[in-house]
Amino acid sequence: MAEGTGGATGGVRGGVSGGGTGAEAVGEPILRVRDLYKHYPLTRGILFKKQIGAVRAVDGVDFDLAAGETLGIVGESGCGKSTVAKMLVNLERPTSGSIAYKGDDITKLSPRALRAVRRNIQMVFQDPYTSLNPRMTVGDIIGEPFEIHPEVAPKGSRRRKVQDLLDVVGLNPEYINRYPHQFSGGQRQRIGIARGLALRPEIIVADEPVSALDVSVQAQVVNLLERLQDEFGLSYVFIAHDLSIVRHISDRVAVMYLGRIVETGSDAEIYDHPTHPYTQALLSAVPVPDPAARERRERLILTGDVPSPANIPSGCRFRTRCWKARERCALEVPLLAVPAVFRDTPTPAAHDSACHFAEEKRVVPPETPPPENRPPESRPGE
Ligand SMILES: Nc1ncnc2c1ncn2[C@@H]1O[C@H](COP(=O)(O)OP(=O)(O)OP(=O)(O)O)[C@@H](O)[C@H]1O
Ligand code: SF4
Ligand SMILES: [Mg+2]
Repeated sequence: MAEGTGGATGGVRGGVSGGGTGAEAVGEPILRVRDLYKHYPLTRGILFKKQIGAVRAVDGVDFDLAAGETLGIVGESGCGKSTVAKMLVNLERPTSGSIAYKGDDITKLSPRALRAVRRNIQMVFQDPYTSLNPRMTVGDIIGEPFEIHPEVAPKGSRRRKVQDLLDVVGLNPEYINRYPHQFSGGQRQRIGIARGLALRPEIIVADEPVSALDVSVQAQVVNLLERLQDEFGLSYVFIAHDLSIVRHISDRVAVMYLGRIVETGSDAEIYDHPTHPYTQALLSAVPVPDPAARERRERLILTGDVPSPANIPSGCRFRTRCWKARERCALEVPLLAVPAVFRDTPTPAAHDSACHFAEEKRVVPPETPPPENRPPESRPGE
């Protein structure tokens, strides 16, 4: 099944990922995902359904998550990010593969054992407008997980606990009886985060938690998530399609294309030393605040549409949009591993990349330092 899956990501906080198996993590990673697949059957006929193919939404994904770490997952719409997220919190069952939480494969646990594990892995959803039940008060929404896990908060203590959670996410505890429509988008996402925290999880899977928010509010919510991570020692899987948001919060980044991870490394490796053409194209579209750096940035425009996950190209799945594609790309699936050209050199380009012709290309130039921080020779007239 693991056609072409190669090295998994290293699990060291902010460290350089090797091209191996993820065994670089210090101790056992809190989450270890291997060979994860989710194929949705495509059927024809109404009475006698016949399977005529499959949507390969997730098609062989490997990664580790170390305790206290944030792994950012990025990619275009439809590449399988939410499907991965749903499998991590058991809202979807994988077609095959394993998701080990502290060594136990949660895809194989009994319902009773799974219930205990699920408490520790919670999700924050993308859209704070649709993910909160409009007919429930904020207190009932945040306290709902206690109905399923009464051992965390016996009935008499729940109101107090919900108020504490409101306080922790920066909302007034007196808002406990209000309804979701009485809050702004950013405040609603804080309610979603408070609900995700209610059971004191160790891992939060945040699926595009700021994508539906105004840019001015996005930073506040990201800052809140960072503060909560420090306060509660949380580990995050943080999903986004915008590479600039992921950089702010992630220790490591995994770039997905059509159901697979195509490049992964520390945030500096991915942003400053990308080697996969798809990552380079994504980076060429991120907003660059510094006008001088923006001028120097190379624009790589992706042509063509993303192929259907029901009809994935042979060999490298990115080849129909890749400006470097050659014959080998149609014949051979590139493995996710440190490319041979970088293997013997200590360079930040030596991180996992699924490309036969991987080359380092810095797409976003470094920001121009302010004049007072520049070396004297670059300050004419002084
Ligand atoms: N229940 C389903 N049945 C059939 N196909 C599905 C199902 N759920 C998702 N898909 C398909 O799987 C692919 C991956 O979907 P997914 O929602 O994981 O993408 P995504 O990366 O989260 O996209 P977005 O950025 O738009 O949220 C898409 O082609 C989608 O249409
Ligand atoms: S393997 Fe070929 S098609 Fe795929 S990203 Fe590399 S150069 Fe492009
Ligand atoms: Mg999604």
